[in-house]
Amino acid sequence: MKVITVHSERTYSIDIGREFTSAIHGLSENRERVAIIFSENMKEFIPVFDSQGAEYFYFAIPDGEEAKSIRTLERVWNWLGAAGFTRSDLIVGIGGGAITDFAGYVAASWLRGVDWVAVPTTVAGMVDAAIGGKTGINSDYGKNLIGAFHSPCRVVIDLAWLPSLSERDFAAGLAEVVKCGFIKDPEILKIIQGRTIADIRGSYEITHELIERAIQVKADVVSGDFKESFEREILNYGHTFGHAVELHSRYSLRHGECVSIGLVFIAHLSHDLGLISSEIRDLHLSILTGLQLPTSYSQGSWPDLYAAMKLDKKSRGNTLRFVAISEIGRTQRIENPTEASLKSAYERVSQ
Ligand SMILES: NC(=O)c1ccc[n+]([C@@H]2O[C@H](COP(=O)([O-])OP(=O)(O)OC[C@H]3O[C@@H](n4cnc5c(N)ncnc54)[C@H](O)[C@@H]3O)[C@@H](O)[C@H]2O)c1
Repeated sequence: MKVITVHSERTYSIDIGREFTSAIHGLSENRERVAIIFSENMKEFIPVFDSQGAEYFYFAIPDGEEAKSIRTLERVWNWLGAAGFTRSDLIVGIGGGAITDFAGYVAASWLRGVDWVAVPTTVAGMVDAAIGGKTGINSDYGKNLIGAFHSPCRVVIDLAWLPSLSERDFAAGLAEVVKCGFIKDPEILKIIQGRTIADIRGSYEITHELIERAIQVKADVVSGDFKESFEREILNYGHTFGHAVELHSRYSLRHGECVSIGLVFIAHLSHDLGLISSEIRDLHLSILTGLQLPTSYSQGSWPDLYAAMKLDKKSRGNTLRFVAISEIGRTQRIENPTEASLKSAYERVSQ
């Protein structure tokens, strides 16, 4: 088992390759009550935990983004109230990023903050959503508008979850892993290059190494900048155009698929501006195509996507800002590029 430590408003460890049931038993010691929050469609995978002193409560909630609603939050608050949850009890979120975002926010809001454990079950959850302490739910006005920074007390990564994950979700999660390769860990790209998604999925060792490396990148970045003032922004490589596509597609594409398109967009933009070589630009395309991730988006119209990018939270004040790279593993920022250069990059990804 590999342990990676994150330093934020609290210090916590991410246990990679740890069997989750024994981890939860261990973390439940000395707790009176433990709430296990998971999505209804994962019910068959959730074991009955032995009490060992703690009383376990099982809260099945809707799947995916539906979990992250005010209605679901109210239901879970009521369950916690009825169960008599106190500040010394524990919340455990088991599921994809939607569930850990939700469970973390339940923990942040109940009694002004109780301990919680994240047990991510998707690649995206393992390398991204469960790490860094961002928790939240959606409002009718947009995704993740309600939330809090509230780090878990432990993240338990058990790769035994992954075989049941759809190929589409597995690949989408790898888009974030690829991003980590470009911004900080070139070894990730070397491992992925020339391998198919089946090669990666079929090998515990390769999957473990990629997930571990991506987690290390995120853990290092958030340890240096918990509340996203500047350094943490590098994690948004590929996300500015990616978020615009996500919004425009009305969330019909996976987040990671939109990031993949966004990575190709920023590669074209950076190359056009003379920041990266054509080899590095093409490496984005070949790696993402090799993982069967989308690299183009043809349903969009430029004015809509441009407007969405300007709205993106990364554009501060009047500044439209993109995280870019100057070489693999070295980031920089592009501020206020001309609309003509953006449109030209868009034309390349819209074919
Ligand atoms: N907090 C953060 O820093 C952060 C970062 C990135 C993304 N997010 C959030 O994460 C969410 C996306 O996460 P996601 O990509 O994991 O999607 P998700 O949570 O919606 O899960 C995708 C699907 O996979 C299913 N699933 C989960 N684990 C499974 C397994 N082991 N086997 C079979 N099916 C399984 C889920 O039920 C769901 O249908 C979004 O809500 C996004 O806002 C948060």
